[in-house]
Amino acid sequence: MCGIVGYVGPRQAERIVVDGLRRLEYRGYDSAGIALVHEGTIASDKRAGKLSNLDKALADNPPPESSTGIGHTRWATHGPPNDQNAHPHLGAEGRVALVHNGIIENFAVLRAELEAEGHELVSETDTEAAAHLLEAEVVAGSTLTEAMRQVVRRLEGAFTLVAVDAQDPDRVVAARRNSPLVAGIGDGENFVASDVAAFIEHTREALELGQDQVVTITRDDISVTDFDGAEQPATPFHVDWDLSAAEKGGYDWFMRKEIFEQPGCVADALLGRHSARGRLQLDEMRLSDQDLRDVDKVIVVACGTAFYATMVAKYAIEHWTRIPCEVELAHEFRYRDPILTRDTLVVAVSQSGETADTLMAIRHAKAQGSKVLAICNTNGATIPRESDAVIYTHAGPEIGVASTKGFMTQLVASYLLALYLAQVRGTKFGDEISQIVGELEQMPQKVGRVLEQADAVNALAADLAEARSVLFLGRHTGFPIALEGALKLKELAYMHAEGFAAGELKHGPIALIEDGLPVICVVPPRGRDQLHDKMLSGIQEIRARGARTIVLAEEDDEVVRPYADTFISLPKVPTLLQPLVAVVPLQLFACELATLKGHDVDQPRNLAKSVTVE
Ligand code: M6R
Repeated sequence: MCGIVGYVGPRQAERIVVDGLRRLEYRGYDSAGIALVHEGTIASDKRAGKLSNLDKALADNPPPESSTGIGHTRWATHGPPNDQNAHPHLGAEGRVALVHNGIIENFAVLRAELEAEGHELVSETDTEAAAHLLEAEVVAGSTLTEAMRQVVRRLEGAFTLVAVDAQDPDRVVAARRNSPLVAGIGDGENFVASDVAAFIEHTREALELGQDQVVTITRDDISVTDFDGAEQPATPFHVDWDLSAAEKGGYDWFMRKEIFEQPGCVADALLGRHSARGRLQLDEMRLSDQDLRDVDKVIVVACGTAFYATMVAKYAIEHWTRIPCEVELAHEFRYRDPILTRDTLVVAVSQSGETADTLMAIRHAKAQGSKVLAICNTNGATIPRESDAVIYTHAGPEIGVASTKGFMTQLVASYLLALYLAQVRGTKFGDEISQIVGELEQMPQKVGRVLEQADAVNALAADLAEARSVLFLGRHTGFPIALEGALKLKELAYMHAEGFAAGELKHGPIALIEDGLPVICVVPPRGRDQLHDKMLSGIQEIRARGARTIVLAEEDDEVVRPYADTFISLPKVPTLLQPLVAVVPLQLFACELATLKGHDVDQPRNLAKSVTVE
């Protein structure tokens, strides 16, 4: 996955493009580069490493004035991240420059063909072959737009391409297939980018682009066609957040800022969800009540942190609606030949809306005739566009690679979906639904109270900075939270961490317990007495074997307190909603521990924000 920007307008393109790349750096950060059109030539610079390396190179060797440029921040797929493999790539004569996100699956054939014709390709990327093909078409007399259409028809795989031609100074041409691209509509200037964050500083008006489309931007025009040249409509939309949401706002990391934004995000995710008469309403729900009444099975698919949100969704959907609900990792889903019918509702949960595994899962479901509903944070992304219905999570842009507010609002959207199904199918009375919605509406304040304990959690992280391993235990909805806490620690602090269902301890994992091993235990509220007491027994067992217990439990849970070496109090909430408050200390803990270890919290090694290849 990579970040791509293109600009045409009256301003110095270098700054616009590099600033855009800075806001897209979360998408890939192993190399970066730009290409500018200047007096019939391409001026290009590209560097391995973070964008700061490119910045420094440009400061040492300033590029010429230019009003048309493209840029790229890379997360390597073909070829290691070095200067040579960084984008942009140029054609044989250096007339056309191209940046690319995705994978060109038939690049080996194309490359062999080009080499047989005498082309010399200098990188190991799949992109360079496309750059040579594009330039060959332009040299043969096609406009850059025509050339792009000819080339993309020959490509297999998933890609966004953005190109400039040195001899056509006021035009940027882009194409997309299964990879994100939006256009930004300015005043006398226009933009294309992987994500609106790249141009939000300049405009909040944007155009959604569909699959297999080619877009050409000039200073005053944006035109869209399909790969065969037929004009295509594009849907304009207004971005409902502004530049401040894409800045750190005084925090050391985007992740920390995003953790602290969560009370507001929960409130936003709940905004406008019920009518004056108290009935739940989901504006983007395009499935009819009858469609929802016909559903006989729900399957929720996702990857990573979003998958843990699906595990919580299962508890809520089954408990409130009595519809059988399965959850599955999106990359496993279609390969096991799942049983899907017209009455199966497949729910895809994705912050980015671009995760390739999740996208492929919903395509498989749709091909079998099932209905697909997306829970997504990114307006106009591919997954919601290809779904029959969508619940947007309204968390605002999530820049930190580790998902926090994305996860929190996925939980809220899952609860809303479950309650909506219960309303339509009559498995809960209206007053019961209103009562739960009322509980949800108290969550911003309750999440805020957990955040007030940040100093204590940070102190705990300092204390455990040298730990070799941390285990996480939970039961019921605390189990996915244990898994999420462990994932956060792995991906940010690069530590061994594992989450377990506490009931599973005695079936094996208890052998891991040794003197001083930190074990973080998510204790269920006492509303479900059995669960609470069983968790307590587990804590006693590991404590007896020397574990250092860090216990997250209801604030007045005096029963469990004597067994906690460290006690982190959670506000009183219903059992099903506990994930909303329990996950917060685990996010803070991982963020602080990674900071103390000197890691880049926003851009952990080997990871990209959204994984657009399978
Ligand atoms: O954009 P998505 O929600 O589809 O992304 C899914 C996962 O790739 C993502 O949650 C990943 O696990 C994060 N690194 C977790 O912090």
